[in-house]
Amino acid sequence: MKDCIAVDGPAGAGKSTIARKVAERLGIIYVDTGAMYRAMGLYFHNLGIDSQDQEGIAGAVDQAEISIEYRDGEQQVILNGENVNGLIRTNEAGNLASAYSKYTPVRKKLVELQQQLAARTPVIMDGRDIGTVVLPDAMLKVYLTASVEIRAKRRYLEYKQKNVETTLEKVEEEVRTRDDQDMHREVSPLMRAEDALLLDASDMTVEQVVDVFVKWYQERKVQQEEGTWK
Ligand code: DC
Repeated sequence: MKDCIAVDGPAGAGKSTIARKVAERLGIIYVDTGAMYRAMGLYFHNLGIDSQDQEGIAGAVDQAEISIEYRDGEQQVILNGENVNGLIRTNEAGNLASAYSKYTPVRKKLVELQQQLAARTPVIMDGRDIGTVVLPDAMLKVYLTASVEIRAKRRYLEYKQKNVETTLEKVEEEVRTRDDQDMHREVSPLMRAEDALLLDASDMTVEQVVDVFVKWYQERKVQQEEGTWK
C-alpha cells in the first residue's frame, strides 16, 4: 500500500481523467472506486430495493459479487458475472451510487475489495474516502477539487456532446446536491485527509494537473529513499 496514490474530491473535479493519465505516466494501475459504488447502486435498484430501505440493503449486500478486471488497460466492473461497464456511466447511476453508498455494509464490502487490490500492486485510486479510510498509508494523498461552477460547466458540456437535454442551472443544482450528499453522510463522508495535498484545478489544464501529480510523486519517492518522510 505504501507505493500507492490516493485521490479524493467532489464529483466532476476531474479525478478519473487525471488518475488515468497519471497511472499511464507512472506505469501503475488505476482503480476507479466510484465505478464499484455505481455497480452496487445498479444492483439494489434492479432488485427494487429502495435507497431508504436499510434492512433490505443489509440483507441483499452479501449476494452482490463485485470484481474488477482489466481489458486493454481499462477497468471493467463485473457484477454477478455480468460486465456492467456500459451501464454505470450515466448520471442516474452516479446518483444511485451516491444514495446507496452511505450504508456501512455497502462500504465495508467495497473497501475490502479496494484494499485487496492495492495490496497486490501499486495503484492510483480515486474516490471519496481513499486517503481517509481505504489507503491511510498511501505514499501520496491528493485532494483534487474545482469550483462548483467549473465542475457544472464541464459536466454540462459532456451532456451536450452526448445530446442530453438539460440546462447549466440544472446541472449546477445536481452538482450541489451530490456534494451535499457525499460530504454530509455519517459514514466516511468526503473530506480531505489531514496529510492530503490540496490541488484546486479550477484554472488548470489536464496536462498541468497531471504534471503536478507526477512531480509530487517523484518528490515523495526521494523523501522516502532519504528517510525524510514516514
Ligand atoms: O466518482 P463517482 O462520481 O463515479 O462516484 C459516484 C458516487 O459513489 C459518489 O457520488 C459517492 C460514491 N462514492 C463513494 O461513496 N466512495 C468512493 N470511494 C467513491 C464513490
